[in-house]
Amino acid sequence: MVEEVAGDPTSGSMHIFFILVPVLGILVSAAFFAVSVVVDRIHSIVREVGGFSSENSREDFLQTSFDQIVACSLRIAQLNAPYRLMIEKNFDPEVRIDCHSEEIERAVTNLLVNSMRALEGNLPGTGHLALAVAAIGDRAVLHVEDDGGGIDAEVLDRIFDPFFATKPAGKGMGLGLAISYHIVKGLGGDIRVCSVPGRGTSVSVELPLAGRFQ
Ligand SMILES: Nc1ncnc2c1ncn2[C@@H]1O[C@H](COP(=O)(O)OP(=O)(O)O)[C@@H](O)[C@H]1O
Ligand SMILES: [Mg+2]
Repeated sequence: MVEEVAGDPTSGSMHIFFILVPVLGILVSAAFFAVSVVVDRIHSIVREVGGFSSENSREDFLQTSFDQIVACSLRIAQLNAPYRLMIEKNFDPEVRIDCHSEEIERAVTNLLVNSMRALEGNLPGTGHLALAVAAIGDRAVLHVEDDGGGIDAEVLDRIFDPFFATKPAGKGMGLGLAISYHIVKGLGGDIRVCSVPGRGTSVSVELPLAGRFQ
């Protein structure tokens, strides 16, 4: 005799559901864990490459003229300069900041190298770089402006991401701005980029004036 068993048509799918939910849960948590390990690793690479010290040794800071830091960064960046550039400097020598000068020099050099790379696309002898250091309120402000190719709007909000670069492989690792950002933020400052594609890019760095560190 064949016994008919009245089956619940949903019982099969419920069974699969009870197996799938925990399995999916485990897969999703594993994916989150993997992503957070990668993000932590990227942060530590940026810190290692940048050689950060400002967060734990502010007592060693020295009052330094911001324009001297920028002048020194410019000499380093010009070692890489493609050809003759017109460089305009507007420096207020009274503007001083508390810092480790090598650290902020590294941050500024990265910005200048980026501008010089952008100016490689200009016709020879037509690249302009304008640098200004001024005190605005309780902030020391550096403006770096170039008339290079600019940055496309769709990538502008990614340029501070570690390893983000639009340059061809081998031309840039995409760490320069990430390092500059961390150095400037570590000093209680801020860094902003404005760009008009085809017209140029302007970067501003704001830092607390000397004696204003909280
Ligand atoms: N002044 C600039 N002009 C045009 N593009 C820039 C400028 N500064 C930064 N960028 C863009 O931001 C990206 C990231 O810069 P960065 O972090 O210094 O990495 P990298 O220089 O190694 O590419 C660059 O690849 C470039 O696309
Ligand atoms: Mg760079």
